[in-house]
This record gives sequence, C-alpha cells and structure tokens, in this order.
Amino acid sequence: MCGIVGYVGPLSAAPSPRPVDVVLQGLSRLEYRGYDSAGVAVLDQQQVRIDKRAGKIANLREAVAGHEASDSQVAIGHTRWATHGAPTDGNAHPHRGGKNGELALVHNGIIENFAPLKAELEEQGYLFRSETDSEVAAHLVAREMEGGGTLEAAMARVVARLEGAFTLLAIHIDTPDRVVAARRNSPLVVGLGEGENFLGSDVAAFVDETREALEIGQDQIVTVTADDVSVTTFAGEAVPEPTRYTIEWDVAAAQKGGYPSFMAKEIHEQATAVADTLLGRIVEGRLQLDEMSIDEAVLRTVDKIVVVACGTAANAGNVAKYAIEHWTRIPVEVELAHEFRYRDPVVNEKTLVVAISQSGETMDTLMAMRHAKEQGAKVVALCNTRGATIPREADAALYLHVGPEIAVASTKAYLGQITASYLLGLYLAQVRGNLFADEVAAIMADLEQIPAHVQTVLDGSAQIEELAREMKDATSVLFLGRHVGYPTALEGALKLKEIAYIHAEGFAAGELKHGPIALVEEGQPVFVIVPSPGGRDSLHSKVVSNIQEVRARGARTLVIAEEGDTVVEPYADVIMRVPATRTLFAPLLTVIPLQIFSCELATAKGLDVDQPRNLAKSVTVE
Ligand code: F6R
Repeated sequence: MCGIVGYVGPLSAAPSPRPVDVVLQGLSRLEYRGYDSAGVAVLDQQQVRIDKRAGKIANLREAVAGHEASDSQVAIGHTRWATHGAPTDGNAHPHRGGKNGELALVHNGIIENFAPLKAELEEQGYLFRSETDSEVAAHLVAREMEGGGTLEAAMARVVARLEGAFTLLAIHIDTPDRVVAARRNSPLVVGLGEGENFLGSDVAAFVDETREALEIGQDQIVTVTADDVSVTTFAGEAVPEPTRYTIEWDVAAAQKGGYPSFMAKEIHEQATAVADTLLGRIVEGRLQLDEMSIDEAVLRTVDKIVVVACGTAANAGNVAKYAIEHWTRIPVEVELAHEFRYRDPVVNEKTLVVAISQSGETMDTLMAMRHAKEQGAKVVALCNTRGATIPREADAALYLHVGPEIAVASTKAYLGQITASYLLGLYLAQVRGNLFADEVAAIMADLEQIPAHVQTVLDGSAQIEELAREMKDATSVLFLGRHVGYPTALEGALKLKEIAYIHAEGFAAGELKHGPIALVEEGQPVFVIVPSPGGRDSLHSKVVSNIQEVRARGARTLVIAEEGDTVVEPYADVIMRVPATRTLFAPLLTVIPLQIFSCELATAKGLDVDQPRNLAKSVTVE
C-alpha cells in the first residue's frame, strides 16, 4: 500500500536526468502498490523541487517532462493509495517540510497521532498544504533540522514521537548527498549499486538497476549516500551487518511478456509457480524443509494450528485446513487476521500459528502474528516476498518462490500458498509420525504431477475465455463447492468481485438450502466445483444433487469437473474439465478456470485488470 523509491547517485558537474529517471522507473514498477497519485522530489539549485499529480504515473511523467534534469544527487518518489485525504495533486507525496520548504518527505503507512502534532505545528506557524497525516512528519523533521545537526538525528527525534506505521524517506537542502529513511511496520529495502544506491518499498523498485539488496529491520534508520549505506536503530545504535541478499528473479519477471495484463501472465505462469514452490523440497520422496527452523521437538508438542491470513491468502488457509488436519490429526482453525487479534483468542506455547501472506507486509496478518507470539505461540510464515516483515518476525519462513506478483489480484501466489501449506502439513505429519515414509512419498509423487496438470488446465483456457466474453454483462454470479471446493468457491467469487466489479458470492453447497437458494431465479449463473467421483463417494453425489437443485430453479450451471466424470454431464449447461488428482490437491486445478474467467470478463468489460479500483497490492494499514 503506497510505493516509495529513493535514489542517491554521484555528484555530477552537469544537470542530470538520472535521479528522476530512476525514481520514475521504480514508481512504475511499484504502481501496483497504489495508484491514486504519484510524485517525485529532487534538489535543484539548492532548492527542493517537487512534481506531483493525481492519477496514474503517466500523469506524473507528463508533469515532469521538460525538467527531469537537475543538479541533484538525490531523488525520492511515491505512488499513493489514499488513506487520509482524497487522491488530489495536493495530497500526493512528496510533501514539503519547513517554513521555507527546505525538505521533502514521502511516507507509507498511517501516523495515528497526527492530529495533535499538526495542531502543535500550526501553532508554531507551519503551513499545511494537504489533508494528509504524512505532512506532519515533513514539518517535524524540518523543524528538528532548524537548530542544526544531522538529518539522521532529526529523523531519530521525530520517529520517537510518531505512533502508527511508517516508512519515511527524506531529503533536505543542507544534506544534498543523502536520503535518510526510517521504518516501523512498513516495508523498506535498500538496493546496492556501484557509486549509487537505491531505496524501495520492495525490490521491484530497483531490480532494473541492481540485484544486490539489504534488508532493513524494524525500527531502524538508514542513511544512503552514493557510496555508503549505514543503518542504526531508532536509539542510534549502529546495526553492524544488515542482512545482504541477491534478488533471484530478473527484470522479465516484472514485465508483461506479451500478455495483455500482468494477471493474465501470472495465471499462465502457474505451472512453473507450483513447480518452483516444490523445487528442492522433495529429496528421494522425503520432504526436506531446510528453512523449518522450529525445533522438531517443539513441533511434536503442537496441539492446535491457527492459520491467520486475509483475502485470497485466507482462502488458501481454508484449503490448508482440510489437508493439514487430514494428514496430522491436529485441529486447525483458520481465521481472518483482523478478527483473530481482537477477540482474545486461546493461543499458547502448544499452538502453531501459520501466517500466510504473499506480500509479507499485510498489517492485519502481522499484528495477528505478533499477538500470537506474545502468547507464546510459534509462528511459521508462508510468504512470497524475501525480507518482508512477516517472514522476518516469524520463527520460521517457508518462501513460495513464485516470483514477483504484480497484478493486484492474487493468482500464482494463491497456488504457491496452497502448495506450501501442503508441504508444511506433510512435514508435520512426517516429523510427528502420523504418516509412514512410503505414504509421504506417494502423496509427494502425486503433488509433483500437479504442475503438468495445471498446464493442461491452462491449455484449455480458450473455452473459459469465450464463456467470460459471452457473460460480460452478468450482474450476479454464484459459486458453490463442498469440502476443498468451498474455499475454491470463495476464491472464485472474490476474484470476480475485485476484478470485474460483479456481485458474486461463494457458498458451501450444503448451505444452499439454508437460505441462499432463494437467490436463484431463471438464468442465474452458478459455478459449481465438483469433487472427484473417485474421492469420498458421498461428497461427489451430494454436489451432483446440489447442481440439480439450482438447475431445477432455473440456474445456468457452469460446472468444473474432473475428466471422465460423466455423471455430472446431464446437469451441466457448461462443463469445464480438470485432470484427475487427489481430492486434497484439486484446489490447485479447479480455481484456474475461475481465475481465467474473471480476468477475461474484466478485460472484455474494458476494466483495468491489474489495478482494480479502490485496491492496492499490499495492505499495510489495519
Ligand atoms: C485478492 C488479494 C488479496 C490478498 C490479501 C492478503 O486477490 O490479493 O485478498 O490476498 O490482501 O495479501 P497478502 O497475501 O499479501 O497478505
């Protein structure tokens, strides 16, 4: 939520466009984090120069055109997802700080105590030009600089007064060689170049420029010059060796590669995504999770698992529940992270909390996880973003390795999350002796077939795309499933809501008769996820009955069923096929037609598939 970029380069004799170019490029890569407005600040002729515009980064590029070059070594930029104040030019970042506008600052997060701070500053004659909470930080840092001293010291004094979540980047006319940043509960990484350095909300901000990165920890201040990066705690103690790592994915991974949208591209990357999540983790039929740094003895004492997550990640958690309970016989609860934290949950040292988060920065999930840790629980994070706060704070992190997910709607990370949760469940079963080695090996062998099955579903996408185009004027779509088909139904509905702005609801098929069936009338489209006829026998026949119930009331039935399942044919108006697999693994296949459907339908409606209205990729506010 909000993307920030910083750059520091060499001192140059002539005006240079590079600082602004680097920041604009970085903002384009981070636009998925927020796209209400954007801005960039440089120092020029010992003045702060700021360009900012409501709307997408294209508007900012127009505003900047003609004066990209400056004698600045530094630049900072921001792409916004509005929290306080409408998405206007004035509320866009960077904000000017100080009575003479001698500082520029960008902020990601929410400053909860901004109101009293603003009143204090206004009383002292500081002029506010926006309705944002962020502008107080700009004036506060500028005010601290008025008495002399370093930008770092000013930042340290200011962060001590702020409540809430923030990443701040500041530049000041008195310190033209540096960007000073601070973070608490909001993301920040540093990119290491040669004679130049970079800052970003995530590595996408600078992956065109460098693959070498530094993790910045919680409550740290970082000073970046062209040749040096130094990190301290908020208390001013040096952090001698911040963790350095190499970014594994390349620039192509963050480009559309011929697809009409990132979402389409990411859907079509899912066979590789699942393979990459599995890669190196199955050795001679045995699960090897080197990252599982929680002691096996501790894992053997676990008597309850709680999955905390939001949105699509929570739907992945709901799939995980079926699998992990089945294999380990440990009770699993799945809870929306924002609900978990505020209901005084029963959690203790024997509880294993699984925090699922693509971004690793979702504030609701982070807060839930911290709450659980305070009660003594151990936390495993299933996460896609290296160096993010959730995996850093967890006791162990299993990375998804699905590559950068740029589209706001999660697709390949969802498959990665489900796959990683299978690995976790099987690992626990292996450690605790719930399954024999040959049972684990047989299950893993089937899991290793999934990438090929995913590809088969993707190869059949034309049928679903045609259906989506034909249904582009639909106003309501229902989704039904039982067992692991239920979370798939929820995910299908979520995708359609967020991308195509169509009213959509997912139901447990058995719940239909308890109320929702009243919604069904002539022509109502209903997707039904049909379980394998080879699985639990009663499950399949129950879902077939549910199809008949809605069809008898006029529904148009859009059925996702296993290859060779002829029983459903008489009741399906449209039938989409997926390869046969274990019931527990079916969610990795049955969701794909639903993803393709939403993506294509939104495209047919002419909507912005990758950046749907009101949303942001990484939700770093509660
Ligand atoms: C929907 C979607 C969101 C995220 C949710 C959690 O397509 O992407 O529902 O799943 O905001 O995000 P992460 O996984 O980053 O914690």
